[in-house]
Amino acid sequence: MPLKPSAASSIVALKNVSKYFPSPNTQTIPVLQNISLEIAPGQTISITGESGSGKSTLLNIIGGLERSTAGSVFWKEKCISEAPIDRCATLRQNFIGFIFQASNLIPELTALENVLLPARIAKKDLRKCKYLAEVLFQRLAIVSLKNRIPANLSGGERQRVAIARALMLRPELVIADEPTGNLDENNAAIAIELLLELCREYHSALLLVTHNPRFVKKMQRPFALQSGNLYPL
Ligand SMILES: Nc1ncnc2c1ncn2[C@@H]1O[C@H](COP(=O)(O)OP(=O)(O)OP(=O)(O)O)[C@@H](O)[C@H]1O
Ligand SMILES: [Mg+2]
Repeated sequence: MPLKPSAASSIVALKNVSKYFPSPNTQTIPVLQNISLEIAPGQTISITGESGSGKSTLLNIIGGLERSTAGSVFWKEKCISEAPIDRCATLRQNFIGFIFQASNLIPELTALENVLLPARIAKKDLRKCKYLAEVLFQRLAIVSLKNRIPANLSGGERQRVAIARALMLRPELVIADEPTGNLDENNAAIAIELLLELCREYHSALLLVTHNPRFVKKMQRPFALQSGNLYPL
């Protein structure tokens, strides 16, 4: 029986989450060990750590894209650790928005079609969603780019489209895995400022993996991931 999260107000709670990968040489590779974490509504959290320390693995487990080996993950009061993958996908639609290092936009779709995709999948009222998407395009200063396909956008522009897509359904949590890793310092700073502003406006919590100390300083709860454990900075 999984332990319940202690704070009823948390949107995500991890209880003693561990992850081991099978290895041909040793028995298992421990990546995450007994991690517990609660994320409150609207909180901003950063995670730093060396390459291979398990940051993406942790984010994927929190986002229900990957399963932990032990421990429990709660979205609100629901334990998703043993929920079927398709059930997780449905629950995730309105709850979590993802932004990855490579924007992961669909190459055949225009910027606007990419941003509307989560709304189409969730079978939302498209007329209303188009209006909300237009607002996001304005906020992100990419209105003139909405009919372009990703190949005809710069890296910084693609990441702004990815931010709009992640926020389209006003998720309670945005998970961003090195979203500015491919951008120059200036474009990275613009993207992070916009992301923080929009998360504040939409009351979305933000879980950000970044190596940039300037961005870490802007977060309410900075953590380092080291030897499988999370340490507050
Ligand atoms: N499917 C897998 N099978 C075996 N080992 C894996 C698998 N996925 C990840 N790993 C290992 O788990 C560890 C953590 O990987 P992860 O991708 O979470 O690291 P990271 O901190 O995100 O690194 P980076 O900063 O390079 O993105 C690494 O040693 C990696 O090789
Ligand atoms: Mg990673």
